[in-house]
Amino acid sequence: MADTDVRSLAELLAANKGHAVALTGAGISTESGIPDFRSPGTGLWNRIDPMEYLSVDALYARPETFWQYFAEVFGPTLAAQPNAGHLALAKLEAAGFITGVITQNIDGLHQKAGSRTVYEVHGHLRTVHCQSCGRTYPMSEALAQLKKEPIPHCSECGGRVRPDVVLFGDMMPAAFSQAVAAVERSSLVLVVGSSLTVSPANSLAFQTPHLAIVNREPTPADGRADVVLSGGAGDTLSAVLRELNLA
Ligand code: APR
Repeated sequence: MADTDVRSLAELLAANKGHAVALTGAGISTESGIPDFRSPGTGLWNRIDPMEYLSVDALYARPETFWQYFAEVFGPTLAAQPNAGHLALAKLEAAGFITGVITQNIDGLHQKAGSRTVYEVHGHLRTVHCQSCGRTYPMSEALAQLKKEPIPHCSECGGRVRPDVVLFGDMMPAAFSQAVAAVERSSLVLVVGSSLTVSPANSLAFQTPHLAIVNREPTPADGRADVVLSGGAGDTLSAVLRELNLA
């Protein structure tokens, strides 16, 4: 990671102070022990087909298999802790450089790191809701039920419950239109840890005059970015904090 690139990113953030928003993906959470989806070799989708096992169709057609994979893949995430990348974005928000974080992640680590404005465009792991009566429960309760039953049910009406995450085939939540509005108010999007391959979230990287990308692998938006840094999110964003005297 060249110091000039870190300096360029710090200068871009300073020049767009208060008019920048971060857009994060699974790559910012790998340093918290959560595998991402598409990294060569380690990405989850290298070994699990999400359309087959973790889509809306899978939830309705094969609920037992859905919940088995869901618990295996996302259960460990509930215990994860934020890393230097999450903490750096929280500091950039507190110091007024960014207005908040748009995240494709469902792990809640931005909030745990202290970020105040977080747009969870793919939902979150905190709760499930009953598909019959709408009652909401903590995800921990649904996962505990799975130890005794093949699929979790609503304790109120006995209906089936589903996670409050956006599955392949779901409509986008209100948080996505809020994220679009946040980008429209911005002049810089700072992408951290996303392959930018899943729409419509990836379209947010193409809407502002300025774009910065921190990602180990190339992305489809690299060609229009002011700055592209291929280092690790934690190290890179920590170096940016030092450059801005926020460390
Ligand atoms: N630092 C920087 N970049 C990293 C790091 C790291 N420590 N670890 C991984 N990366 C990069 C990878 O190189 C990869 O390009 O992060 C990117 C993660 O990309 P994906 O695995 O595709 O994750 P994401 O972009 O968030 O996927 C979007 O796809 O399956 C759906 O709903 C799921 O929200 C997810 C969406």
